[in-house]
Amino acid sequence: MKKKAIVTGASSGIGEAVSKELIENGYFVFGIARDFKKSSIFDEDFEQIICDITDTKKLETIIKEITDSSEISLLVNNAGIGHFGMHEDIKIEDIEKMARLNFIAPMVLSKLLIKPLKKTKGKIIHIASASALKPSPFGSAYSATKAGLIQFSESLFEEVRKNGIQSIVISPDITNTAFFNKLSFYPDDDKLASLMAKDIAQNIIWLINNPQNVAITHLQLKPQLNKIAKRKNRESDE
Ligand SMILES: NC(=O)c1ccc[n+]([C@@H]2O[C@H](COP(=O)([O-])OP(=O)(O)OC[C@H]3O[C@@H](n4cnc5c(N)ncnc54)[C@H](OP(=O)(O)O)[C@@H]3O)[C@@H](O)[C@H]2O)c1
Repeated sequence: MKKKAIVTGASSGIGEAVSKELIENGYFVFGIARDFKKSSIFDEDFEQIICDITDTKKLETIIKEITDSSEISLLVNNAGIGHFGMHEDIKIEDIEKMARLNFIAPMVLSKLLIKPLKKTKGKIIHIASASALKPSPFGSAYSATKAGLIQFSESLFEEVRKNGIQSIVISPDITNTAFFNKLSFYPDDDKLASLMAKDIAQNIIWLINNPQNVAITHLQLKPQLNKIAKRKNRESDE
């Protein structure tokens, strides 16, 4: 029987690439996002689940439906957004949205999936960010949500390792996705200056295929070069 995974933010970027890679590696994927019109995955091993994961009541119902009928081996907490700029200029609703999506939703999903994952000795993978590992001016709130996620993942691993579960956090640096569509900075054209979503996905396949005695709890991924491009004439970021 195929192993089954839940991937949040599966409609674009890293989540879409991870879903594709998992399907190619024999998984059935429950992909969660709000809108799959932009998705290029049309596969019998992919189920689109439309849900705003900050709606925790709806999320709880959906996860119960999935786990009542399927054994889950992997949760990938990937969905996230970034609002950047001077912290004093960031809208309160955007701070709240980031905290709910990037930090609270992964903790809620992990809570809901721990019991099912005990049965499969499964893994939880969280997508944090390189910005969480250094002072990140103009990204203070975003990087704080990701730093919280790293701490959560490392602590959770210590809690669940006796049950055979692994909690793993990946901190990617700049990755070429739609994440930057509305931002004032974006990956430089130099191919060595950014990661591709597929790079993250392939590293996830490597992580989940490690033997059970090996637990990599935090993986940092950086492009070879450290260069970003900036858009002109943009007062504030979203
Ligand atoms: N790109 C980078 O340089 C980079 C670097 C480090 C970390 N990351 C992290 O990587 C993760 C994926 O980002 P990405 O680069 O792949 O960006 P992306 O292409 O913009 O993908 C974001 C995904 O999150 C989903 N999403 C957003 N709000 C949601 C909500 N309320 N409920 C459910 N799903 C929601 C989006 O789908 P819908 O809009 O359809 O809901 C989309 O599938 C994020 O956590 C981001 O912080 C990115």
